[in-house]
Amino acid sequence: MSVKKKNLIVFGTRPEAIKMAPLVKEFQKHPQKFNTKVCITAQHREMLDQVLSFFEIEADYDLDLMKPNQNLYSLTTDIITGLKPILEDFEPDFVYVHGDTTTTMSASLAAFYSGAKICHIEAGLRTFNMKSPFPEEMNRCVTGVVSNIHFSPTETSKKNLLTENKSPDSILVTGNTVIDALKFSVKKVSQRNYVDDEIAELQSTLDFEKKIILVTGHRRENHGAGFIAICKALKKIALNNPEVTIVYPVHLNPNVQKPVYELLQGLDNLKLIAPLSYPSFVWLMNASYLIITDSGGVQEEAPSLGKPVLVMRNTTERPEAVASGTVLLVGTDSEKIIKETEKLLSDKKHYGEMSERHNPYGDGFACSRIIEFIDTL
Ligand code: UD1
Ligand code: UDP
Repeated sequence: MSVKKKNLIVFGTRPEAIKMAPLVKEFQKHPQKFNTKVCITAQHREMLDQVLSFFEIEADYDLDLMKPNQNLYSLTTDIITGLKPILEDFEPDFVYVHGDTTTTMSASLAAFYSGAKICHIEAGLRTFNMKSPFPEEMNRCVTGVVSNIHFSPTETSKKNLLTENKSPDSILVTGNTVIDALKFSVKKVSQRNYVDDEIAELQSTLDFEKKIILVTGHRRENHGAGFIAICKALKKIALNNPEVTIVYPVHLNPNVQKPVYELLQGLDNLKLIAPLSYPSFVWLMNASYLIITDSGGVQEEAPSLGKPVLVMRNTTERPEAVASGTVLLVGTDSEKIIKETEKLLSDKKHYGEMSERHNPYGDGFACSRIIEFIDTL
């Protein structure tokens, strides 16, 4: 009998959890070939636990690191030192990291020190601007340097890696695992015995006769002036357009909570709510007219749901949805956010063009491609 390959899957924040969950589930279908363990850094706590609970994943190791308003210095070192005993105890052959967070970068460094092979999921995304998004562009570049295998979501991301002289044999285009997660979610939610109190609450509290504008935001480079400008725009949109309801599940980062609750409370048609669980958020995206966000993951999900997205950033590492017409970059300029939102509310032709369904990010089989590849090594 051949020796089982040992996998350690490491993640820490909400988006990593959403995009790694289908990989965990897929590896768990092959216990005869792989010994797979999950390690969460818990860079996020509540927002991570929401995802684990929906996907029914129990971590084998929980570093439980989140601190209120944490800083990048201590988070980085805590992750590296926290992973050391786990890597020494389990001695994985492969360590899987995802995307571009501080967990991703720090875990890949720790894995490099341990001698394990590093597999980077969602590899090769680039804006070519180290300050935007900050610190994510640096995180994914550093992770790319130490990774042995790069699982790229698209041909564009593969091209970025080839430009950096990564060996073609080390890159596999898989599609983005976010589409695998989306498929899992839609299937689970449509099961007859599935009950979701949060969705029921949204159904009973929101007026779906009105157009719903869904908003999310959290980027570090938008903290401060960026968020003040974003809030100014949202307030004006709510006041100018009583026929719409803005729904904003507010990220738990205190640098987001403070300006948003201070500047946006008290408007009838602007609802500030707690972060939603993944299936409720997907449900609400589907029920929305348009989405305004600075999120990376939402830019990937919205095209396959046919929802126009205004992205409150000046750069994106996801050019595919911009090219297909679903995503438009508006930065954090209040006037631009208002102008483009009102254009989508009033110009049916423009709305129709931006709400065509596209699937530039995958077909939902990214995880099985990853596993087939690892199986051949
Ligand atoms: C992090 C990632 C970012 C990713 C985002 C996804 C870094 C540097 N940033 O940003 O790349 O796009 O997650 O959402 O890796 N908090 C809670 N509960 C939670 C989560 C966060 O209270 O469940 C609060 C805590 O006070 C925490 C703070 O938010 O200290 C910041 O969390 P952190 O992970 O450092 O930054 P994010 O802005 O969430
Ligand atoms: N999301 C969620 N609940 C919310 C808002 C977003 O589950 O209230 C999901 C969303 O569907 C997407 C992911 O969180 O898959 C995006 O996370 P975030 O915007 O925090 O991070 P980013 O993708 O920008 O790194």
